[in-house]
Amino acid sequence: MNYKTVVNKDNLYDKKDFSNIKLVKTINNIGEECFLEKRTLKSFLDLKKDLEKENIFISLYSGYRSLEAQQKIIDKFTDVYGIDYTKKYVAEVGTSEHHTGLCFDIDLLINNKVVSNDEFFENESIFKKIISILANYGLILRYPKGKEEVTGYNYEPWHYRYVGKHTAQIIMNNNLTLEEYNELYNKSGVLLVNKPKGLTSRDVVNEIGKIFDTKKVGHNGTLDPEAEGLLVITINKATKINELLTCTDKEYIAEVKVGIETDTLDLEGNIVKTSERRVSKEILEDLFNNFPRKYLQTVPIYSAIKIDGKKLYDYARNNEKVELPKREVVIKELELIDYKEDCFKFRCVVSKGTYIRSIIKDMGEYLDIPCTMSSLKRTRQGKFKLDNAINLEDITINSNLITISNALDIDKREIKDKDYKKIINGASINNSYNTIDKVLFIKDNKEIAIYQNINNKLKCFKMLNETN
Ligand code: DAL
Ligand code: ZN
Repeated sequence: MNYKTVVNKDNLYDKKDFSNIKLVKTINNIGEECFLEKRTLKSFLDLKKDLEKENIFISLYSGYRSLEAQQKIIDKFTDVYGIDYTKKYVAEVGTSEHHTGLCFDIDLLINNKVVSNDEFFENESIFKKIISILANYGLILRYPKGKEEVTGYNYEPWHYRYVGKHTAQIIMNNNLTLEEYNELYNKSGVLLVNKPKGLTSRDVVNEIGKIFDTKKVGHNGTLDPEAEGLLVITINKATKINELLTCTDKEYIAEVKVGIETDTLDLEGNIVKTSERRVSKEILEDLFNNFPRKYLQTVPIYSAIKIDGKKLYDYARNNEKVELPKREVVIKELELIDYKEDCFKFRCVVSKGTYIRSIIKDMGEYLDIPCTMSSLKRTRQGKFKLDNAINLEDITINSNLITISNALDIDKREIKDKDYKKIINGASINNSYNTIDKVLFIKDNKEIAIYQNINNKLKCFKMLNETN
């Protein structure tokens, strides 16, 4: 169940979308049994209680309705108010979000008396006050004024829908309907972000999750808090291609402090070695000409690599002994950019899993002078460049996302009709597409799945089709 699922005239209620809903029994204002989804009921009760402090009194009029119950309401309203009024305010069976249990209608009580339907609009200022605080309870006004064309119903100041607090804030602050929200949000793609110093990669992911209102956000290659630069972020469906974006080359610009080495190999740590020796142009030229381009690099102890289920930095913090793993790294490009006698700056392009801090420590060993990384900026990852990245504070829901298709440098093929059914079900197919490795299958501009050639059979590598 998704709290944001739209039910309206174009999106009929489908029981299976709400199969795990937990309805809770309560009593409405005329003593009848009434059911509401658990969190929706809690929101109603909290709202009611807080409004009482402001001398506003509300009661529950209607919550969950079965298909039959909706028909009864239609019949009753038609009897009492006539067909036109009923058409305006009561949804046809199957199109009402009352079937979900995630909405409710309130009654307003003035001098202990329920305000009649005709009097609703005379008390608009009270409703306005209630509506202004709905989002604090995860509720939205489902049928706002001026949005009749979008929702298909007239303004209903009494009908509130539970969507969760963050989503409710977005909807209410931007004067959206649930339809407009779903159109605008649910975006997927790759976002290039310029991470500032001081934030963890996770902080950036969390921030973007808030902006795009989704938990499905991934980053592809951690940047330490003190590092800055390009973070390749994936949103929603694009999180499925994380592994294809991580395994690409990365370019960095690093600065090195000469004469000290710290335990963390950057300036955050405690100094463990010092030396008065300094570097010269000749020493650095020798280093950059002769430093190995392919070697077994010792992983830094202050890293999140796990040994026996425990992260290396936990061993370091607990002062426990551990053998540091070694990994083959490839330095594809290495270029000295600037130097002084106690510091230098270089650019490098490295393979996946290379630690720049460790390269710098190894450079120190080559020079026989302790060295520590003093700054690090990622300037490229695969084909994505920092120049095209957006600053975190400039990101909005309207920021440009790179499509999965544009993000991946793999074959792209339109699905042949005969294969469509198989592909959307993730079944293997014959390689009639002449693809050598991976292929992104597309149908009517929609990215459906990534397949991989294994012994000339195409097998599903990642399913992208969202209905799956
Ligand atoms: N009053 C709304 C439209 C419903 O019946 O669902
Ligand atoms: Zn209603």
